[in-house]
Amino acid sequence: MDGYGPDTYGESFADVYDDWYGDVSDIGATVAGVVGLAEGGPVLELGVGTGRIAIPLAATGLEVVGVDASPAMLRGLAAKPGAASVRSVEADMASPPVEAGHFSVAFAAFNTFFNLTTESDQRRCVASLAVALRSGGCVAIEGFVPPTTGMADGGVSLRMAAPDQVILSVSDHDAENQSIAGCHIDISPAGVVSRPWRLHYRTPAQLDALFATEGFTLERRNADWAGSPFSDHADAHVSVYRLH
Ligand SMILES: C[S@@+](CC[C@H](N)C(=O)[O-])C[C@H]1O[C@@H](n2cnc3c(N)ncnc32)[C@H](O)[C@@H]1O
Repeated sequence: MDGYGPDTYGESFADVYDDWYGDVSDIGATVAGVVGLAEGGPVLELGVGTGRIAIPLAATGLEVVGVDASPAMLRGLAAKPGAASVRSVEADMASPPVEAGHFSVAFAAFNTFFNLTTESDQRRCVASLAVALRSGGCVAIEGFVPPTTGMADGGVSLRMAAPDQVILSVSDHDAENQSIAGCHIDISPAGVVSRPWRLHYRTPAQLDALFATEGFTLERRNADWAGSPFSDHADAHVSVYRLH
C-alpha cells in the first residue's frame, strides 16, 4: 500500500482500537512487570496508543511518557480518566524526541516494536533508546515468536459477520523480508472502511543482535510479563535488554 507512514496504523484503528484490542494482552501483568523494572524511575512507552497500559501504569505513581505518531490515538488517550498523568508526545518512535539520559525503562507492548516497518527504523529506534535511557536502564520488548516452521502466506479470512456488517481480514506475508501487510475491510450500510496495518517481525535472536549493536545485553527472556519461563515452544516473549 502506497503512502503507509508512521501514523497510518493509528489513524486507521483509533475509532475501534479499544473495542477490538482493549483486552488483547494482560494489562495488570504488563504494569506490574514495568513497575518492577522501573524501580521508581521514569518510563517511556513506545506506541502508547489510547493509553491502555500507560494510564494504569501512571496510576502507580511513576512518571510515564508515551510516544505515538497518531493524533487520533492520542486524542483517544486524552479523553480517558487519568490521562493527565501521562505525558504524550506525538512523534515517530523510530526517533522519539525525549530527554536524553532520563528514563529508567522503555518498553513496547504487544508487538508494537514490529510496527516499525523497516529494519532501518528499528535500528534508529534502538539507537534512540540508548540515548534516552539512564546508565543501567533497560528496554522491554513484547513480541510474538515467528514459528520456525514458517508462517502462512496470507490470504483472506472473515473477522466478523453480522446482518449489517462484515469485516474481512486480508494479509500478505513476505517471508524473505519478514514483513506482513494487512488490511481489515469493514463493510456496512455506512460504507466501506479500510484499516491497513503492517509489521516487520523479528525473531528473538534477531532482536538480541539488534540491541547488541547499541550496547544492550539480554538480561532475561520470559514467555510473558508475568515471568513464565520462555521455551522453544513459546509463541510470545518479553525480552529485557540492559544498557551497560
Ligand atoms: C498495537 S498499538 C499498541 C498501543 C498500546 N501500546 C497498547 O498496548 O494498547 C500500536 C501503536 O503504535 C503506534 N505506532 C505505530 N507505528 C508508530 C511509529 N512509527 N511511531 C509512533 N507510533 C507508532 C500506533 O499509532 C498505535 O497507537
